[in-house]
Amino acid sequence: MYSVPKLDDYSPAALDRAIGNLRSALEQEVSAVKSEADHEALRIRWRARTNGILTQINDQWLKAAPKEAKRDVGQRVNELKTWVEAKIEAAKYLADHFEPLSDEEKAGFRERAIQAITEARVARERLDITLPGIRRPLGAEHPVVKTTNEIIGIFAKMGYSVETGPEIETDYYNFESMNFPPNHPARDTQDTIFIAGQESKPQRDRLLLRTHTSPVQTRAMEKHRPPIRVVAPGKVHRSDTPDASHSPIFHQVEGLAVDTNITFSDLKGTLDHAMKELFGSDVKTRFFPSFFPFTEPSADVQVTCFKCGGKGCRLCKMSGWIELLGCGMVNPKVLAFHKDNGYDPEKVSGFAFGMGVERIAMLKYGIDDIQLFFHGDVRFLEQFA
Ligand code: DAH
Repeated sequence: MYSVPKLDDYSPAALDRAIGNLRSALEQEVSAVKSEADHEALRIRWRARTNGILTQINDQWLKAAPKEAKRDVGQRVNELKTWVEAKIEAAKYLADHFEPLSDEEKAGFRERAIQAITEARVARERLDITLPGIRRPLGAEHPVVKTTNEIIGIFAKMGYSVETGPEIETDYYNFESMNFPPNHPARDTQDTIFIAGQESKPQRDRLLLRTHTSPVQTRAMEKHRPPIRVVAPGKVHRSDTPDASHSPIFHQVEGLAVDTNITFSDLKGTLDHAMKELFGSDVKTRFFPSFFPFTEPSADVQVTCFKCGGKGCRLCKMSGWIELLGCGMVNPKVLAFHKDNGYDPEKVSGFAFGMGVERIAMLKYGIDDIQLFFHGDVRFLEQFA
């Protein structure tokens, strides 16, 4: 049985030898551990406060060392302690897991287990908490997401909830239910990206990338009976060539409110309030006649230029007004698709609106190129963090 020798030579070579002897002694004792009781005996022999081998090393090697050798011996003893504790921990694992194994399994298991556990434990002890930590840069909301959430928040305060729909839509949802009749020229204005190979399907079932968030109006009216107030944020696609103001992918927020006695005044009041929240309470709004198949009447909403206050500047092209979104009273033909779900155009009415998120973000933050949103350049993005 190993016992701790007194040292009279504290040279590095002598210390190496003494430590080497101790290590091989412990290796042998660990590999003889077969049971819980074996492990307990081992633990007491090596780690007992009074007269365990680690304590003896402390007394006989470290405390007895001459002044000049103290530093070196201290360091070695510390390392050795960690290693001994790791070994004994490994032996515990062995004691717990060894017996159920077959002889064949036992053969390789011991060595591998002891080695793996010892290494893991020693590595853990080497953790140097004085080293600087790893700083992970904090992420932030993309300006498109930030603006979308801001818009949603404004409408949430007015009682609107959020509805979503798929980006791959059928012709029915994107066009037919929005009152674009088949082959109607209004479809051409949408630069639709169609999915190929759908010719064998009826037109209404053919798939396309939604060109606007308006189909979510249909999905919302299928799901919920009136009264309804929803906003639908999301990504839309058009076959546009990218430039400073066009992108084949962009985002919209759609809105829909249907109830008894909803009037154009409600639409005006709602959007006027939303624009003041978004751009500041000084802005004024005005409504221009426009056309969308799904609203009647339809309007484009303009706000007074929030940069020059309406005097005329480059942002508003000297007009004093900026065009921001489309809206209108929901076309009775659109409501009629959902007559059986409570949307009888004789009984309820509603308004709808749709706005481009990138356009609003560009105006709000003074961004002059829509492509910047999609390049993922951190120098651009971090300005909105
Ligand atoms: N869907 C239209 C577009 O993408 C925007 C729009 C206009 C939505 C008027 C509406 C609306 O709900 O009432 O150009």
